[in-house]
Amino acid sequence: MVTPHVVLVSGSLRSGSTSDRIAQWCADRCTERSATARVFTGGELDFPFYRPGLSDSHGAIREFLGELDRADGVVLISPTYHGTLSGLLKNALDYTNDLGEPRPFLDGRTIGCVAVGAGTQGAVSTLGTLRDIAHALRGWPTPLGVVVPHAGVLAPGDEVAEQHHREKLTEMVCQVLSSTLVRAGELPESVGAGT
Ligand SMILES: Cc1cc2nc3c(=O)[nH]c(=O)nc-3n(C[C@H](O)[C@H](O)[C@H](O)COP(=O)(O)O)c2cc1C
Repeated sequence: MVTPHVVLVSGSLRSGSTSDRIAQWCADRCTERSATARVFTGGELDFPFYRPGLSDSHGAIREFLGELDRADGVVLISPTYHGTLSGLLKNALDYTNDLGEPRPFLDGRTIGCVAVGAGTQGAVSTLGTLRDIAHALRGWPTPLGVVVPHAGVLAPGDEVAEQHHREKLTEMVCQVLSSTLVRAGELPESVGAGT
Protein backbone atom coordinates (compact mmCIF):
# COMPACT_ATOMS: atom_id res chain seq x y z
CA MET A 1 0.00 0.00 0.00
CA VAL A 2 1.45 3.33 -1.10
CA THR A 3 1.41 6.21 1.39
CA PRO A 4 1.27 9.43 -0.65
CA HIS A 5 3.38 12.30 0.61
CA VAL A 6 1.90 15.74 0.03
CA VAL A 7 3.74 19.03 0.43
CA LEU A 8 1.57 22.09 1.01
CA VAL A 9 3.11 25.47 0.30
CA SER A 10 1.64 28.78 1.47
CA GLY A 11 2.76 32.06 -0.05
CA SER A 12 2.00 34.64 2.63
CA LEU A 13 4.14 36.20 5.35
CA ARG A 14 1.18 37.93 6.96
CA SER A 15 0.63 37.06 10.61
CA GLY A 16 -2.56 35.00 10.84
CA SER A 17 -2.47 34.36 7.10
CA THR A 18 -5.51 32.73 5.53
CA SER A 19 -3.20 30.92 3.10
CA ASP A 20 -1.22 29.39 5.99
CA ARG A 21 -4.42 28.28 7.68
CA ILE A 22 -5.86 26.76 4.50
CA ALA A 23 -2.55 24.92 3.99
CA GLN A 24 -2.84 23.36 7.45
CA TRP A 25 -6.54 22.59 6.94
CA CYS A 26 -5.78 20.77 3.67
CA ALA A 27 -2.84 18.95 5.32
CA ASP A 28 -5.25 17.64 7.96
CA ARG A 29 -7.53 16.34 5.18
CA CYS A 30 -4.50 14.53 3.74
CA THR A 31 -3.43 12.89 6.98
CA GLU A 32 -6.95 11.77 7.87
CA ARG A 33 -6.86 9.90 4.54
CA SER A 34 -3.63 8.11 5.52
CA ALA A 35 -1.28 10.32 3.51
CA THR A 36 1.69 12.10 5.04
CA ALA A 37 1.84 15.86 4.78
CA ARG A 38 4.36 18.64 5.29
CA VAL A 39 3.22 22.25 5.42
CA PHE A 40 5.56 25.08 4.51
CA THR A 41 4.13 28.30 5.89
CA GLY A 42 5.00 31.58 4.23
CA GLY A 43 7.45 32.27 7.04
CA GLU A 44 9.42 29.16 6.12
CA LEU A 45 9.82 30.37 2.53
CA ASP A 46 11.55 33.63 3.35
CA PHE A 47 14.46 32.74 1.08
CA PRO A 48 16.84 35.12 -0.72
CA PHE A 49 15.99 35.80 -4.36
CA TYR A 50 16.79 32.80 -6.50
CA ARG A 51 20.26 32.55 -7.93
CA PRO A 52 21.95 29.44 -9.31
CA GLY A 53 24.07 27.57 -6.78
CA LEU A 54 22.64 29.08 -3.58
CA SER A 55 20.43 26.13 -2.61
CA ASP A 56 23.47 23.88 -1.96
CA SER A 57 24.63 26.04 0.94
CA HIS A 58 21.27 27.14 2.37
CA GLY A 59 19.77 24.69 4.87
CA ALA A 60 16.16 25.90 4.69
CA ILE A 61 16.11 25.84 0.89
CA ARG A 62 17.69 22.39 0.90
CA GLU A 63 14.98 21.14 3.23
CA PHE A 64 12.26 22.67 1.01
CA LEU A 65 13.71 21.06 -2.11
CA GLY A 66 14.19 17.75 -0.30
CA GLU A 67 10.52 17.66 0.65
CA LEU A 68 9.43 18.54 -2.88
CA ASP A 69 11.78 15.94 -4.29
CA ARG A 70 10.09 13.16 -2.33
CA ALA A 71 6.56 14.55 -2.74
CA ASP A 72 3.93 12.65 -4.69
CA GLY A 73 1.57 15.59 -4.58
CA VAL A 74 1.92 19.33 -3.98
CA VAL A 75 -0.67 21.92 -3.00
CA LEU A 76 0.12 25.57 -3.72
CA ILE A 77 -1.83 28.19 -1.76
CA SER A 78 -1.22 31.82 -2.66
CA PRO A 79 -2.67 35.15 -1.65
CA THR A 80 -3.60 37.34 -4.59
CA TYR A 81 -1.21 40.26 -4.89
CA HIS A 82 -2.24 42.66 -7.66
CA GLY A 83 -3.91 39.96 -9.68
CA THR A 84 -1.32 37.24 -9.36
CA LEU A 85 0.55 34.99 -6.92
CA SER A 86 2.86 36.44 -4.27
CA GLY A 87 6.51 37.04 -5.09
CA LEU A 88 7.37 34.96 -2.02
CA LEU A 89 5.77 31.84 -3.48
CA LYS A 90 7.09 32.47 -6.99
CA ASN A 91 10.63 32.89 -5.65
CA ALA A 92 10.37 29.65 -3.66
CA LEU A 93 9.14 27.80 -6.74
CA ASP A 94 12.01 29.23 -8.78
CA TYR A 95 14.31 27.08 -6.62
CA THR A 96 12.77 23.94 -8.17
CA ASN A 97 15.12 24.83 -11.03
CA ASP A 98 17.75 23.15 -8.85
CA LEU A 99 15.86 19.82 -8.73
CA GLY A 100 17.56 17.72 -11.37
CA GLU A 101 17.22 14.23 -12.80
CA PRO A 102 15.60 11.78 -12.38
CA ARG A 103 12.62 14.00 -11.50
CA PRO A 104 13.43 17.58 -12.49
CA PHE A 105 11.29 20.51 -11.30
CA LEU A 106 7.94 19.05 -10.13
CA ASP A 107 7.95 16.42 -12.84
CA GLY A 108 5.04 14.00 -12.54
CA ARG A 109 3.64 15.41 -9.30
CA THR A 110 -0.05 16.16 -9.03
CA ILE A 111 -0.50 19.80 -8.07
CA GLY A 112 -3.55 21.29 -6.37
CA CYS A 113 -3.84 25.08 -6.57
CA VAL A 114 -5.66 27.46 -4.24
CA ALA A 115 -5.91 31.24 -4.70
CA VAL A 116 -6.94 33.45 -1.79
CA GLY A 117 -8.07 37.02 -2.45
CA ALA A 118 -10.03 39.90 -1.04
CA GLY A 119 -12.49 39.19 -3.83
CA THR A 120 -12.85 36.67 -6.63
CA GLN A 121 -11.71 38.57 -9.75
CA GLY A 122 -8.00 38.78 -8.87
CA ALA A 123 -8.05 35.34 -7.25
CA VAL A 124 -9.34 33.73 -10.45
CA SER A 125 -6.42 35.27 -12.32
CA THR A 126 -4.03 34.01 -9.61
CA LEU A 127 -5.47 30.52 -9.86
CA GLY A 128 -4.89 30.48 -13.63
CA THR A 129 -1.29 31.57 -13.14
CA LEU A 130 -0.66 28.94 -10.45
CA ARG A 131 -1.93 26.29 -12.85
CA ASP A 132 0.28 27.63 -15.68
CA ILE A 133 3.29 27.45 -13.35
CA ALA A 134 2.36 23.90 -12.33
CA HIS A 135 2.38 22.94 -16.03
CA ALA A 136 5.67 24.76 -16.62
CA LEU A 137 7.21 22.76 -13.78
CA ARG A 138 6.06 19.55 -15.51
CA GLY A 139 3.37 18.91 -12.89
CA TRP A 140 -0.22 17.86 -13.35
CA PRO A 141 -2.70 20.43 -12.04
CA THR A 142 -5.81 18.80 -10.59
CA PRO A 143 -9.02 19.29 -12.58
CA LEU A 144 -10.39 21.32 -9.68
CA GLY A 145 -8.64 24.49 -8.58
CA VAL A 146 -10.06 26.50 -5.70
CA VAL A 147 -10.66 30.23 -5.27
CA VAL A 148 -11.38 31.51 -1.77
CA PRO A 149 -12.32 35.11 -1.04
CA HIS A 150 -10.73 35.46 2.40
CA ALA A 151 -13.42 37.38 4.26
CA GLY A 152 -15.24 35.02 6.57
CA VAL A 153 -13.60 31.91 5.18
CA LEU A 154 -11.95 30.82 8.38
CA ALA A 155 -13.58 30.81 11.76
CA PRO A 156 -11.60 30.73 15.03
CA GLY A 157 -9.88 27.40 15.52
CA ASP A 158 -8.64 27.18 11.91
CA GLU A 159 -11.86 25.61 10.66
CA VAL A 160 -12.85 26.53 7.10
CA ALA A 161 -16.15 28.21 7.88
CA GLU A 162 -18.15 27.90 4.71
CA GLN A 163 -19.41 24.50 3.66
CA HIS A 164 -18.89 25.41 0.00
CA HIS A 165 -15.16 26.02 0.57
CA ARG A 166 -14.80 22.92 2.71
CA GLU A 167 -16.27 20.82 -0.08
CA LYS A 168 -14.11 22.33 -2.83
CA LEU A 169 -10.88 22.10 -0.83
CA THR A 170 -11.63 18.53 0.20
CA GLU A 171 -12.40 17.54 -3.37
CA MET A 172 -9.15 19.10 -4.60
CA VAL A 173 -7.18 17.23 -1.90
CA CYS A 174 -8.91 13.99 -2.90
CA GLN A 175 -7.95 14.59 -6.53
CA VAL A 176 -4.30 15.04 -5.50
CA LEU A 177 -4.37 11.82 -3.47
CA SER A 178 -6.35 9.71 -5.91
CA SER A 179 -4.22 10.59 -8.94
CA THR A 180 -1.11 9.70 -6.95
CA LEU A 181 -2.61 6.31 -6.13
CA VAL A 182 -3.81 5.73 -9.69
CA ARG A 183 -0.26 6.25 -10.90
CA ALA A 184 0.95 3.77 -8.29
CA GLY A 185 -1.74 1.30 -9.38
CA GLU A 186 -3.76 1.60 -6.17
CA LEU A 187 -7.04 3.38 -5.47
CA PRO A 188 -8.61 2.40 -2.16
CA GLU A 189 -12.17 3.43 -1.32
CA SER A 190 -10.97 5.58 1.61
CA VAL A 191 -9.62 8.21 -0.77
CA GLY A 192 -12.89 8.77 -2.62
CA ALA A 193 -14.12 12.37 -2.76
CA GLY A 194 -16.35 13.64 0.02
CA THR A 195 -16.36 15.94 3.00
C1 LIG B 1 0.22 43.77 -1.86
C2 LIG B 1 -1.19 43.23 -1.87
C3 LIG B 1 -1.89 43.17 -3.05
C4 LIG B 1 -3.18 42.66 -3.09
N1 LIG B 1 -3.83 42.57 -4.29
C5 LIG B 1 -5.06 42.00 -4.33
C6 LIG B 1 -5.73 41.86 -5.58
O1 LIG B 1 -5.25 42.25 -6.64
N2 LIG B 1 -6.95 41.24 -5.57
C7 LIG B 1 -7.52 40.76 -4.42
O2 LIG B 1 -8.61 40.20 -4.48
N3 LIG B 1 -6.90 40.88 -3.23
C8 LIG B 1 -5.69 41.50 -3.17
N4 LIG B 1 -5.04 41.61 -1.96
C9 LIG B 1 -5.69 41.06 -0.75
C10 LIG B 1 -5.15 39.67 -0.41
O3 LIG B 1 -5.10 38.81 -1.52
C11 LIG B 1 -6.04 39.05 0.65
O4 LIG B 1 -6.08 39.89 1.77
C12 LIG B 1 -5.59 37.66 1.04
O5 LIG B 1 -6.50 37.12 1.95
C13 LIG B 1 -4.24 37.66 1.72
O6 LIG B 1 -3.90 36.31 2.02
P1 LIG B 1 -3.25 35.93 3.41
O7 LIG B 1 -4.34 36.08 4.45
O8 LIG B 1 -2.81 34.53 3.24
O9 LIG B 1 -2.13 36.86 3.67
C14 LIG B 1 -3.78 42.19 -1.90
C15 LIG B 1 -3.07 42.25 -0.69
C16 LIG B 1 -1.80 42.78 -0.66
C17 LIG B 1 -1.05 42.84 0.65
